[in-house]
Amino acid sequence: MNTRSEALRVLLGNWRGYNTVPAPDLYPHQWSWDSAFIAIGTRHLSPLRAQRELESLFGAQWDDGRVPHIVFDPATPDEGYFPGPSFWNSKSVTGPGVAATSGIVQPPVHALAAWEVFQSDPDTAQRRRFLQRLYPKLVAWHEYLRCRRDLGGAGLVSIVHPWESGMDNSPAWDPALARVRPVSMRRYRRRDLDHADASQRPTDEDYGRYVRLVETYRDSGYADRPEVHEFAVEDPLTNALLAASEEAMAGIADEVGAPAAPHLAELARLREAMVARLFSGGLFHPFDVRSGELTEVGSVAGLVPLVVPDLPVAEELIATATGPRFRAGELGVVPSFDLTDERFDPARYWRGPAWFNIGWLIRRGLLTHGASKLAEVLRSGYLEVAERAGFREYADPHRATGLGAHRFAWTAALTLDLIETR
Ligand code: SER
Repeated sequence: MNTRSEALRVLLGNWRGYNTVPAPDLYPHQWSWDSAFIAIGTRHLSPLRAQRELESLFGAQWDDGRVPHIVFDPATPDEGYFPGPSFWNSKSVTGPGVAATSGIVQPPVHALAAWEVFQSDPDTAQRRRFLQRLYPKLVAWHEYLRCRRDLGGAGLVSIVHPWESGMDNSPAWDPALARVRPVSMRRYRRRDLDHADASQRPTDEDYGRYVRLVETYRDSGYADRPEVHEFAVEDPLTNALLAASEEAMAGIADEVGAPAAPHLAELARLREAMVARLFSGGLFHPFDVRSGELTEVGSVAGLVPLVVPDLPVAEELIATATGPRFRAGELGVVPSFDLTDERFDPARYWRGPAWFNIGWLIRRGLLTHGASKLAEVLRSGYLEVAERAGFREYADPHRATGLGAHRFAWTAALTLDLIETR
């Protein structure tokens, strides 16, 4: 198999005219952080398409600045995905005429993606005023997170649903999620199990809790008053990507003639708050706002702050990444959960398998902090998985067996990027 042309084939096949679906069967709409990672790869195929990918996502941005985690494709029937547009009922909140979307968000990797996309073809971007049009939207997006989501009062962003972390069923959410009473899934039909093996997906009980959290948020009109949120957690990955995106915003601001300094100040502020509040024992951890405690578990989200430039604890993080809990140097990929913890499961969604977006981010963080040898080990490790297993959603970190969805767009996109950025 020629990996490069196969990756292009997946990106072309999943393209829907304005955006790329993550996987035609399991995820038939537009997802927020997927689109950002997809744009990072698609820029090597068509910089124009990569710009459109981000533009279509931000076309569905809410008035309050939030960028919804799903933008529903009107051509796909409601029953194509659960929970679908009627369940979220977001049109009543965002106003008539806007796209049907979910009401929660995903990690803010968009400014970083926009800056990468711009740099791949500045001429086309300048001619289309890509950054000029996107910059105010990115500012509003970051402002939503900073102002409406500081539920813990420490200057960090809280996620209000495990889906907002992008790492739905990570054991990192178990304690906070255990307080949520699950709805009975007998009332609903999970569509994900039509397309993926149940042993590789979250359990029904967790799904019942996810659905309860959406119902409560929806019924409040997606209000971000602290009392609405039974689940509120400061996630290291979300805050790290916001910080890294602020660095990108400084570059974008320069390009569009806006002041860069406020973005660099925001980056420094986030970095300091994260280290002070979330770092302990060689890893970043989520802070559970409801219990007031750090959840000290070994989620790979705790390594992602490596993407934050000039991180003072980068060496400790690299030691954890290569130590017995993640063994990134030996495996060539990074498992999504601590290998030494009894909850580690090599096949179940975010409880152990290796994911390409996380590997891509950690490689980037390693390069940022001068660890180019380990960065290269990851680059070739992930490329090997793609060659062996194809563009699957995730992979068993030991055997490199492909798991989850097939023809998964960000796996193809980031593989392409790893090939192109040797
Ligand atoms: N990742 C979630 C799903 O599996 C929701 O975005 O459907």
